[in-house]
Amino acid sequence: MSVNFLERDKAVARDGFFNEAIDPSLDLFDAIAQLKKEKNAIILAHYYQEPDIQDIADFIGDSLGLAQKAATTDAEVIVFAGVHFMAETAKILNPNKKVLLPDLNAGCSLSDSCPPELFQSFKARHPDHTVVTYINCSAGMKALSDIICTSSNAKAIIDSLPKDQKIIFAPDRNLGAWLKKESGRDMVLWNGACMVHELFSVEKITKLKVRHPEAKLIAHPECEEAVLRIADFIGSTSQLLSFIVNDAASSFIVATEAGILHKMQQQAPNKVLIPAPPDNACACNDCPHMKLNTLEKLYLCLKNEVPEITMDEDLRLAAKRPIDRMMEISRAAGLI
Ligand code: 13P
Ligand code: SF4
Repeated sequence: MSVNFLERDKAVARDGFFNEAIDPSLDLFDAIAQLKKEKNAIILAHYYQEPDIQDIADFIGDSLGLAQKAATTDAEVIVFAGVHFMAETAKILNPNKKVLLPDLNAGCSLSDSCPPELFQSFKARHPDHTVVTYINCSAGMKALSDIICTSSNAKAIIDSLPKDQKIIFAPDRNLGAWLKKESGRDMVLWNGACMVHELFSVEKITKLKVRHPEAKLIAHPECEEAVLRIADFIGSTSQLLSFIVNDAASSFIVATEAGILHKMQQQAPNKVLIPAPPDNACACNDCPHMKLNTLEKLYLCLKNEVPEITMDEDLRLAAKRPIDRMMEISRAAGLI
């Protein structure tokens, strides 16, 4: 089997609409709704998208929810308001559908921290290991993996493997270290990380906790161990959302990408949400990749049906196998 690692670059070369002017009097919400109907399209958005995109989306979810929705939709066109690996996953699951990404440059620092050609030799140095890979990776990485996981199902996936099975976990070292602790398993970790979740400052969070003693700290497992150690609850984006809706506390310090605060505030209007401060002068916790998508780009992408995600069929089939295994284990564990 040949793995085409350059598929994304080829797709970039096919992209070519960005400079089209939009009539400033156009109501983008109406125009997008009209195009969606005409083209039998669905808009899937991650919680980290800007509020306007979340509000116009047909489905908002975390990585697992989005993968599952992508696998079951009967729309002919999928507009993926998220990052490249998410749209790529939708294409892997839907070879006959048109999958569009509003900005093809919306990548992911975590995915980029694990190039398949380097991982291939790392894997060769650890024979007899099962490769469990976080969904935040390229199709080339998925093709080198045995099982994919997301932050919602990672523990269930690790727990499903025989106790004596040796495991490589890639690419996120923070999620991997947390899983080692949670599952009591020793795993070989790839040394990758997310640029957004690594930035939170324990020192500033500790000061915030002193100022707001009633607030619970909730954190995504992509955060560093020092942050996770002082968190009251750790979970995927959708698990953090459910937690603040259902927990009795009235205020929360939220250590994850700031886009989720929009949905949290909508679903729990009476709760106080305090974004955890990052370790830099900027007060924002936005993912620069996620935020490349805008309502304007979403409109143009749906109108012109570019940029489109395409993929070599051998690569697609190789990348689909570990996603199918993830879905089977998640179903057996009652997670989807
Ligand atoms: P989840 O969607 O699994 O919470 O992961 C967060 C993330 O970093 C997506 O890029
Ligand atoms: Fe990647 Fe981190 Fe952005 Fe998620 S938040 S898309 S892991 S860079």
